[in-house]
Parts: sequence; C-alpha cells; structure tokens
Amino acid sequence: MRIDILTCVPALLESFFAHSILKRAQQAGHAEVKVHDIRDYSTNKHRTIDDYAFGGGAGMVMQIEPIARCIQALQAERVYDEIIYLTPDGALLNQKAVNQLSLKGNLILLCGHYKGVDQRVRDLFVTREISIGDYVLSGGELAAAVLADDIIRLVPGVLYDETSALTDSFQDNLLAPPVYTRPADYEGHKVPDILMSGHEAKIEEWRYEQALKRTRERRPDLLD
Ligand code: ADE
Repeated sequence: MRIDILTCVPALLESFFAHSILKRAQQAGHAEVKVHDIRDYSTNKHRTIDDYAFGGGAGMVMQIEPIARCIQALQAERVYDEIIYLTPDGALLNQKAVNQLSLKGNLILLCGHYKGVDQRVRDLFVTREISIGDYVLSGGELAAAVLADDIIRLVPGVLYDETSALTDSFQDNLLAPPVYTRPADYEGHKVPDILMSGHEAKIEEWRYEQALKRTRERRPDLLD
C-alpha cells in the first residue's frame, strides 16, 4: 500500500504520519506515505498555486497546472488505483468504502484549500471524491489524514491483533460494545460479572447484545 498526499501545507501532515501505528506500519514496510508540496510544481517565483475565480466571487481557486504536473510526475513512476479528492461535496466516508480502499495498491489523495480546485482537475484526474462529514474544514489535510489512518490500520499486519479491526464499530453495522480493564472494582464501580466469568460463549453473546442495544439507542439508522 502506497499513499501519496498532495497538499500546499505539507507541515500539517508530516507529524501525523510520524507517530504511533502509522509510523510502525511504515517502518515495517506495510504502508508507505509520501507527502508532496504542490507549490514545488508551481512555475512562478512566488510559488503561487491559486488564482481568482473566473466569474468573480470571494475566495481563491487552486490552479490545474501545478496539480497536474505533480500527478503526472507520480504517474510516470507507478500506476495509481484511485486519485481521491477530499471535498465536503464528495461521497460521505463510511467503513465499507475504507474496507474497499484498504485492498488497493497505490492511492493519491488530493487536498483542497481556499475555494477548492479548478473543476478541470476533478474532471480530468480525480477518480473518486470523498467527504469525511457534513461540515467544512479549512482544508482537505485533516480529511486526508483521517482517510489514510483509516485505510492503513486495515492493511494486513499493521495491527498487532489481526482480529481487532474486525470487531471495530461499524464493521458489522453495529457500534462496538463497552470494554473494561483493570481494576475490576473502581471505588465500588464494578466490571459486569459476565466478563469475569471466563465463559467465552456467554461473553460473546453479552457483547453482541450490548452492541445491538448501543446501536439501537445511538445510531438506529445503521440497523435499517
Ligand atoms: N475539505 C473541507 N471540508 C472537508 C470535508 N468535510 N471532507 C473532506 N474534505 C474536506
């Protein structure tokens, strides 16, 4: 799995991938994340990559040429399965889409800023548009970080406990059940007896019931 992220603010992303599971995944060779500064592909001395919108209106628009040059330089080196543009008007991200994307080999994630990218970038290069929620961020970087994190944790070998990702919330359209660890008694607040019983089948049944209860209460839409 290789993920190339195109941004005009690379510093926003660099530390995110330098820690924890994402760092380990890269060190172990399970995933490679490369952040590219779109400004490096600008041809003017001020390294600008945006301009006023044709037709007027507030806000700058990211130009096609620097983005096109960056994408073409990457495509000269390898074939990409998807070029994903992070945008609030994209398809809402869910676990099913993340599962699909985790099976791909090479991905480009394009982060927008200002009023977004020239529509021709979307028409000519982008194969998929994704939103991480019905709210507007100041740029696509956080959305790209969310998406890359979500994808990479599913790549085989990345999580220590391979079954762990399968029991996440959403994997079976259910929210995850409550979890507990030591101490078994915190100032009189005890862990449910069933979890201390050692009875595996009963524990599984309890977890399923709790997951169902939580989903009914919090996200009944998932059960439709
Ligand atoms: N860029 C700005 N807001 C966004 C969102 N909600 N999802 C993806 N990219 C974005």
